[in-house]
Order: sequence, then structure tokens, then C-alpha cells
Amino acid sequence: MITKDQALKVLGDNGQEQVMKGFDQLSDEKKKEFLGQIENINWSDFKLIGNSSEEARGTFTVPEAVEVPEIEKRHDEFEAIGLEAIKKGEVAAVLLAGGMGTRLGFDLPKGCYNVGQTHDLFIFECLINNLMEVVNKAGCFVPLYIMTSEKNDKATREFFAEKNYFGYDPDYIKYFVQDMACAVDYNGKLLLEDNGRLATSPNGNGGWYVSMVKAGLDKDAKARGVKWINIFAVDNVLQRIADPVFVGATIAGGYQAGSKVVRKVDPQEKMGLLCLEDGQPSIVEYYEMSKEMAEAKAEDGSLLYKFGVILNYLFSLEKLDDIVNNSMTVHVVEKKIPYIDEAGNKVSPTEPNGYKFELLVLDMVHMMDSNLAFEVVREHEFAPIKNLHGVDSVDSARELLVKNGVEL
Ligand code: UTP
Repeated sequence: MITKDQALKVLGDNGQEQVMKGFDQLSDEKKKEFLGQIENINWSDFKLIGNSSEEARGTFTVPEAVEVPEIEKRHDEFEAIGLEAIKKGEVAAVLLAGGMGTRLGFDLPKGCYNVGQTHDLFIFECLINNLMEVVNKAGCFVPLYIMTSEKNDKATREFFAEKNYFGYDPDYIKYFVQDMACAVDYNGKLLLEDNGRLATSPNGNGGWYVSMVKAGLDKDAKARGVKWINIFAVDNVLQRIADPVFVGATIAGGYQAGSKVVRKVDPQEKMGLLCLEDGQPSIVEYYEMSKEMAEAKAEDGSLLYKFGVILNYLFSLEKLDDIVNNSMTVHVVEKKIPYIDEAGNKVSPTEPNGYKFELLVLDMVHMMDSNLAFEVVREHEFAPIKNLHGVDSVDSARELLVKNGVEL
């Protein structure tokens, strides 16, 4: 642990001594925590602020994909390969549940949200129910690793325990906590969320494997014989997890990774698009995409870049180890960051007021040598809950759950 003098030195070197105001009045425990936070700051991230010259992008081409008609035709073949891998214990799932879920504005972890109407049906429960279908088919449990953050770890664990893991075997559930990153205002000055506490937030969904390794759970997975990891977002209540058909198609094609994709409904839709960039798998976010690229047409008049990603990926565990040794790109993202002002008042901004530093899972896809785009039927597998109402909301997800025969 660094000393107060060392903290003053490193903060001074980086023009951030303002955060030490009031340090001497903190309790010994708070002082220790604060010094720990300062010690963990990744100062090299600060150089990225205001450096908006995004790296030049390469040449885009259409990725290899299996589309729904082909998947239907080869369903049994793919499924048999996937089930065999699952039965051998080669497939694990990682639930990315470390996000803050600010758009939903719910106090508990997002997975604790109840989408039921006449009975309880929690988001976590929907996900476990979906995974149980595979467990029942394969006749064995799939190891499930749940990534939380220091802000929601306790509440997530308590919720699962209280609900008896929704019938899942707890021996197959393990948690790990993702790293946090600090936040700064538009002048690059560190923000405090309280006296003696830096404003921090989870470091983005791309940090999951590094955090999993830190927790020693890569070893746990390897000891169980895991070769493939299916990562998925907490908020898509319809998604298939460890889907044997998806796993089988990825293995059968000899790919290092697979990405579930849905067909875009209109050229301007706000989704990350899967493509190849200089021959490497790549995801172009909707806000980075030129109008030309968004609207480009194939020979038959359909959209050329038509597949949007839904944050459900399969990665070869062996390849993930290579990635962990290559440092990932840090993204500087504008966000609303609650903080205390100079007078010590808590401020909850309604507009973005600074930057967070995040790692994104799409950079992991880009580090894979090959990736299969696996098309799924949107109405059956894509019901994300980001907001309470409107697009990608509790309302739209409820409607889709009912359409898929789930009783609410
Ligand atoms: P989102 O970006 O939609 O989630 O992440 P969020 O940050 O929780 O939501 P808002 O923007 O504040 O409303 C997609 C997935 O990635 C996970 C989320 O939990 C979700 O499953 N995630 C995101 C993490 O696990 N860690 C992070 O740091 C960020």
C-alpha cells in the first residue's frame, strides 16, 4: 500500500492533488481505502483523453455466416456436435452482470428485476430457465461464471442464494468481481463520489477475462475441461445460452469464435455490425459507421452488412489466454458521473459531465483470427432490457416473452 507522501507525489506528478483535500480528516480505514484507490489508478489511460483521432479503420468486407435456412437444414448435425462438447464438460457460460444498468434506473442489480406480471419472474430466473433447457437436453450442468462488480456483488450473490439458484446446481455457479476504473471531468480531473472516495465504475464488459483470470477461475474452468466459453449479457431475457446448435456450428466450421447475430431491420438501426476488417473479425458500432456502409447493398438488393451483434459470443479458451497477454484498447466514454463538488455537495448530473475508461468485448472479437456469424431469429432470441419503456425495454421484452410462450 502506498503512503500518504507517495500518493501526494503521484497525484502531483499528474496534476491531481485536489483530491487529497480533506484527507487528514478521514478515518484510518477510509484513508487506507482511498490510498488503495489511488494506487490502482491506471495513469496511462489519462493520455487518451481528448485524443479523439480514432485509429484509422481498415477495409471492410462481409463476414462468413451461417444463416437461418442453412442452420435449419443442418440443425441435427450441429446440435449433436454441440451436445457432445457440453457432455464432455467443454463448454462454460459467463454471465456479464457487472454493469450499472443506469438506463433502467433500478436500485438492485439488473438481473433482480421482476418482469413477471401475475407471478414473479426475475431477469436472472429467465436466464437460468433458458440454460436449464440445455442442461436437461445434455443431462449435465454447464459451469456458469457470473461476473459482478464491487457495487453489486453482494446483492447478486444474496439474491441467487435466497432464490435457491432458481433450481441450478450451486456447485456449478461461481462469481468473480470485475475491476473498477476511475472517472474524470471534461478537464481530465479526477472526480470524487464522496469524501475520501474516488468516483469509480466497472471497467467495461471487455475486462471480463482479465478479471476471471485474476480470480483464478480460468484455472477452475480448465480443471473442469472447459474449452469454450459462451459470454452473454444480463439483459436479453430470450437468449439461448450454451446453445448446442451454435456451439456445434462454431466447432464444425473450425472457428476460434462465434457470434450470434440478428438481421438488421433498417440501415440506421443502432446495433454493432459484424464484418471483417482487413480480413479480421470486427464489429463496427453504429455511431462509427458511415452512411455509405450502413446503406451498402448486396447484388440482390438486400443490405450488404446486415448482421447486428447481440452480445452473445463463443470464444475458444485457448485463444483467450493469448488475448490476456495483449493489452486491450481502452475507450474513453462520455458518461453521467455522480460526484461531490468543491463544497462537498452530492451532484447527480442529468447530462454527461465527464469520461469513464472502458474495455469493450468487441475488441476481443477483433483479436480472434476467425469468427462465425451465426444468425438467430430475432423475435425468438433477442429481447434486451435497457430501459423501462420504449425501445429495448421491460415493455418490449414482456411482449416478446409472451409471444414465445412464456407466462408472465
Ligand atoms: P450495457 O452497456 O448495456 O450495460 O452492457 P450497463 O452499462 O449495465 O447499462 P447502462 O448503459 O448503464 O444502462 C451490456 C452488458 O455488459 C455488462 C452489463 O451488465 C450487460 O450485461 N457490463 C457492462 C458489465 O458486465 N460490466 C461493465 O462494466 C459494463
